[in-house]
Amino acid sequence: MSDLPSWKKNLERSGGYWSDGRWYDLHVDRRLPQVGPMLDEMLLALPPLPPGTTVCDLACGTGNAAVTLLSGYPTVQMVLLDEDPDLLSEAYSKAEQMTPDVETLRVSLETDGEPLPGGPYDVVLASLALHAIVGHEVERAEAESRYELLFHTIRSSLTSGGHLIVGDHVGTLPLYTQLKTMERAGLEEVDCAWRQDDFFVAGGVG
Ligand SMILES: C[S@@+](CC[C@H](N)C(=O)[O-])C[C@H]1O[C@@H](n2cnc3c(N)ncnc32)[C@H](O)[C@@H]1O
Repeated sequence: MSDLPSWKKNLERSGGYWSDGRWYDLHVDRRLPQVGPMLDEMLLALPPLPPGTTVCDLACGTGNAAVTLLSGYPTVQMVLLDEDPDLLSEAYSKAEQMTPDVETLRVSLETDGEPLPGGPYDVVLASLALHAIVGHEVERAEAESRYELLFHTIRSSLTSGGHLIVGDHVGTLPLYTQLKTMERAGLEEVDCAWRQDDFFVAGGVG
């Protein structure tokens, strides 16, 4: 008797094994074709990053945002943060091939406004991260208040002039509402750099 889960889950309309890091990396480009361009646009949205810039890949999963950033700026100090130990180890093994300056933080974040561990950071990358931390099955008013607390958390974890770059899809909250919520949380220079279908790249300065 095999322990393998059924291949039929791959054949469901939005099914699959999204929490399995290797499956995720194999499937993400085909199932969500906007994600590759979104990651590239996150990198291109950043100002030049000098050596030693501290970067946190928030809710890093398999580390695709970190790897994209390291492809452009290999001399930053990278912190990978996620609650899932298997995904963290997948992310670490990819990032350490690009830099020795990488560490992992296993943390289950609460939306409580407290600063991120390991900070302050010059850059926080949040790729497909915020909606996951806020939760999918959350009604609109509650989602907005959780987003605001999360943006407070991020703002208070940035160095002065540090940048938050968000790549995500709308759904939990519309883009315009997310931008206004970022401003309410005290982020400055808030704007949207790119949008395709329901995916976007936005940012702000702490
Ligand atoms: C959709 S994945 C995105 C992963 C990655 N950033 C990317 O772009 O591929 C969401 C990630 O958020 C992490 N996550 C969800 N809730 C979290 C929480 N409360 N604290 C820390 N990580 C969380 C999950 O473990 C998962 O790796």
